[in-house]
Amino acid sequence: MQQLSNKFKVIEESYNKINSWYEAYASEFSSEDNEIQINIDLVKAHTARVVENVNELGSSIDIEESDLFLIRIAALLHDIGRFVQLVEHDTYADTPDSNHIQIGLRVIEEHEVLNGLEDAEKALIIDCVKMHDLNILPKISDERSFTLIHLLRDADRIDVLRIVSDYYTHKKVHPNRHLDMELKDLPGIAKKISKDIMAEKVANREDVETLNDLKLFQMSWIFDIKYKRSFKMVSEKSYIKAIFETLPKSDVVIDMYRNMKIFMENQL
Ligand SMILES: [Fe+2]
Ligand SMILES: [Fe+2]
Repeated sequence: MQQLSNKFKVIEESYNKINSWYEAYASEFSSEDNEIQINIDLVKAHTARVVENVNELGSSIDIEESDLFLIRIAALLHDIGRFVQLVEHDTYADTPDSNHIQIGLRVIEEHEVLNGLEDAEKALIIDCVKMHDLNILPKISDERSFTLIHLLRDADRIDVLRIVSDYYTHKKVHPNRHLDMELKDLPGIAKKISKDIMAEKVANREDVETLNDLKLFQMSWIFDIKYKRSFKMVSEKSYIKAIFETLPKSDVVIDMYRNMKIFMENQL
């Protein structure tokens, strides 16, 4: 028992230390380019909300208190690579030269952010950062890793859906080329994407060719959401419906939306 409460204390203290480090690190980034500055602020606000989301989702399931702090650390760090990606590479698009996860892992290592934690906990956090954005997860046999990775993925996607549904709705007034991911707003939908969505599968990022494909790809994350509370959050805020409203209303789009709507309703 004593050992458990010591472990809890170490993780809680690590969280507080990493939180202070994160605040100081993030505050170093600014840009004279207004759009880059808007996106730096967006990453900061997103990170704060992902921390809130993992807390809310984690509290809704049976999880140890110390793991709640661990997943909050992972949430704080999951997009730490976005700052360098934005300021040095001027994009959100992950390429071999500018991948926000690879940059993030480098930053975590160079700044020795996880020093003070045990190896097993360090490895868990690194796995969460590495896997938070994978299109399709490998099989994870360790139950604790499985839970924490899915908590972060759900929490992250809920907030990305919040950001992009708002962005697509108001895009004409407040364009942000970074959120368009360098994609053109052309009509037409990639066949592979509609095939995946009709099969209730998350679409493949590599099949995304246009902005409409990107919107549908992001909507298809619902097929990969894990926790009931996550479905509730996405459903209550109508993120999927809001994105649908910005798509061309072709038969295939209407069919895909209907499929996703029914799937969501069945998870609630
Ligand atoms: Fe990310
Ligand atoms: Fe994120």
